[in-house]
Amino acid sequence: MDVEKRQKKVLLTGEQIARRAAELGTQISEDFKGETVCLVGTLRGAVMWMAELMKNITCDTVIDFVMASSYGSGTESSGNVKIKKDLDTDIAGKNVIIIEDIIDTGNTLAALRDLFASRRPRSLKICTLLDKPSRRTAAVKADYVGFEIENLFVIGYGLDYDQKYRNLPYVSYLED
Ligand code: IMP
Ligand code: MG
Repeated sequence: MDVEKRQKKVLLTGEQIARRAAELGTQISEDFKGETVCLVGTLRGAVMWMAELMKNITCDTVIDFVMASSYGSGTESSGNVKIKKDLDTDIAGKNVIIIEDIIDTGNTLAALRDLFASRRPRSLKICTLLDKPSRRTAAVKADYVGFEIENLFVIGYGLDYDQKYRNLPYVSYLED
């Protein structure tokens, strides 16, 4: 069926996500009390989640963005990750938290984590809005997880299908 005609059902409301962002933001603020954190958002999917999360972080915060693309066959990502936009920040000795939209196979994030780790940050954590553990092929685990979801193709709240639907203020999914 044409994607436009598929019904877009709500999986997570904006309110649920905002509440979770408040919880995780509070936890991050406690974990890094008295320190500075560098939040690194992954373009483009993490922007809405990062914006919501950072409102709830009370320690000194700086932000930066990275854009990675992993190409494999079709919609599957591969271990072949390319950095399209690197950090402007020198993260050596800093507390870094990668802010992700979703961890699916984990390939993209595993590559990013290894790259950032090689730059010797003081600490390196991962915060993801969504986690699809059933799809994991790379050994990567988030330290802060918004919601665990089953194997659905989700859209909205930053997540896209063919670059669309990122602006939906809730998480929806496409039915086949
Ligand atoms: P991974 O490398 O397989 O973990 O996935 C990398 C990227 O694929 C994620 O950061 C998303 O941008 C995208 N992705 C994975 N699953 C979905 C989904 O269900 N909806 C939209 N994008 C997805
Ligand atoms: Mg992404």
